[in-house]
Amino acid sequence: MQIIKTIEELRPIVKGWRKEGLRVGLVPTMGYLHEGHKSLIVKAVSENDRVVVSDFVNPTQFGVNEDLASYPRDIERDAAICEEAGADLIFHPEPEEMYFADSCTFVNMDKLTKGLCGKTRPTHFRGVCTVVSKLFHIVTPDRAYFGQKDAQQLAVIRRMVRDLNFDIEIVGCPIVREKDGLAMSSRNTYLSGEERKAALILHKSLLLGKQMMEQGERDAAKVKAAIIQNMETEPLAKVDYVEIVNPDSLENIDIIKGKALIATAVYIGKTRLIDNEM
Ligand code: PAJ
Repeated sequence: MQIIKTIEELRPIVKGWRKEGLRVGLVPTMGYLHEGHKSLIVKAVSENDRVVVSDFVNPTQFGVNEDLASYPRDIERDAAICEEAGADLIFHPEPEEMYFADSCTFVNMDKLTKGLCGKTRPTHFRGVCTVVSKLFHIVTPDRAYFGQKDAQQLAVIRRMVRDLNFDIEIVGCPIVREKDGLAMSSRNTYLSGEERKAALILHKSLLLGKQMMEQGERDAAKVKAAIIQNMETEPLAKVDYVEIVNPDSLENIDIIKGKALIATAVYIGKTRLIDNEM
């Protein structure tokens, strides 16, 4: 497995694979890999001839007061995980390689990026869409793999690929959780012991809502209220949002009929965690 840091070195390698008729999969990540990321890589390896993992903490998707500087990084550990999962190449550029000092072109999406995480992170999805578009142009994969953990991101990427005619299949992958239900996340490393326990309230509350829907509750407001009430039993938790939305359009649902995504973001101490259930 190779670690490549420049676009100039990466392009001929992928072109070589294409000439041989090989199918290329891409797994975009910000590194500090865990079992959630690994599940995406393993799936990509099983469905493609070559797999590229991008490992890049993308500055444009962080807001000014967010955790860009403190975001955990460990490329050696990441490389070992990628190798074990069967990836062929890690693309690990520096920010200067990805962005010109005078870059002024961005990919902006309306509607889907305005609600949920977009409310507290108004510039986040512009950064995600821009970097993912760039990675798509640089790597030119046949397929790209994204986790359901970031349900809004997955919906946004699917819409971007449709709207901008990228010839790439987007593959969504299930959420990988710790044994106790906490969704795996690079940001879980920020949690103290006490906060780690408190963080279980996210999944527990989501399951409560899911159970209500399975038992026939159709009023989204009631399900939402029950989830929020349950979250509030945890003193360290501060709810950012709980929403019940259509998983494709991300529009709010009032009466639950078909597919419904329950999505949440909660502050546990200073750490903002997201999770969802369908
Ligand atoms: P990152 O948070 O590193 O996540 C990379 C991919 O791993 C995303 O598709 C995410 O949904 C998936 N993932 C993370 N935790 C997961 C879990 N517990 N189970 C399943 N999948 C999980 O998302 C990003 O990076 C960035 O926004 C990126 C798309 C790379 C653009 O910079």
